[in-house]
Amino acid sequence: MTKRTPVIAGNWKMNTDIKSSRELALQILELTDEVTGVTKIVCPPFVTIAEVSELLHGSSIQVGAQNVNSNPDGAFTGEISASMLSGLVNTVIVGHSERRTYNGESSVLVAAKAKAASKAGITPIICTGESINIRDSGDAVSFVSHQLSESLESFTNWESLIVAYEPVWAIGSGQAATSEQAQEMALICRQVIRELSGNMADSVPVLYGGSVNSVNISEFIGQPDIDGALVGGSSLKAKEYSKLVHIAATY
Ligand code: PGA
Repeated sequence: MTKRTPVIAGNWKMNTDIKSSRELALQILELTDEVTGVTKIVCPPFVTIAEVSELLHGSSIQVGAQNVNSNPDGAFTGEISASMLSGLVNTVIVGHSERRTYNGESSVLVAAKAKAASKAGITPIICTGESINIRDSGDAVSFVSHQLSESLESFTNWESLIVAYEPVWAIGSGQAATSEQAQEMALICRQVIRELSGNMADSVPVLYGGSVNSVNISEFIGQPDIDGALVGGSSLKAKEYSKLVHIAATY
């Protein structure tokens, strides 16, 4: 089996201001900088990225963004392009279910964002996941395969890609998927990557996201196709984030 480096990516969402993002980043730095064998990523809101990026410069912790516009530049009021982010971040989350739901982002748009990020040398973390209605109707597998293939449409930079399976019903609900459900879907994600990329599927990290914490992380990361976690709530507490990192380092 291919050994992939575990990834713990923290999505701070619309939380923290300049002061608290500084404090959080410094605490995370202190608690996790020395930990090796794990890719550590924090994704602050846009307005604090520059600050956090400067603080973490030269450390082992990478900074990511939570969104990017698919256009290179131009009249897109309030938007941020990939070239603006390059130099500040290594990764960017695209297609998070909150953006798909609240901002009406389609998989076609997500694919364009992933390609824009890639072109600017930024690794996209492409998110996919089904709603509770889709799961209850038994269509989760076909929904996620379709959503992920569309989101990866004409993507080519397979060496620099992370995929996150995040069931919508598990995000922020305190009700994580079971490790069996998460493994089944992570395997589906990897099959989609295999169909599209050929031989790169074994090197792309596939994460699970949705109510991950230091108590349940081991169940997920111990699965053959799950390489880490995309974490919301637990990433806002430095100690909890650090626990996730330390646990992931043992895999
Ligand atoms: P959560 O969020 O860990 O708070 O459930 C996960 C995510 O949205 O990535």
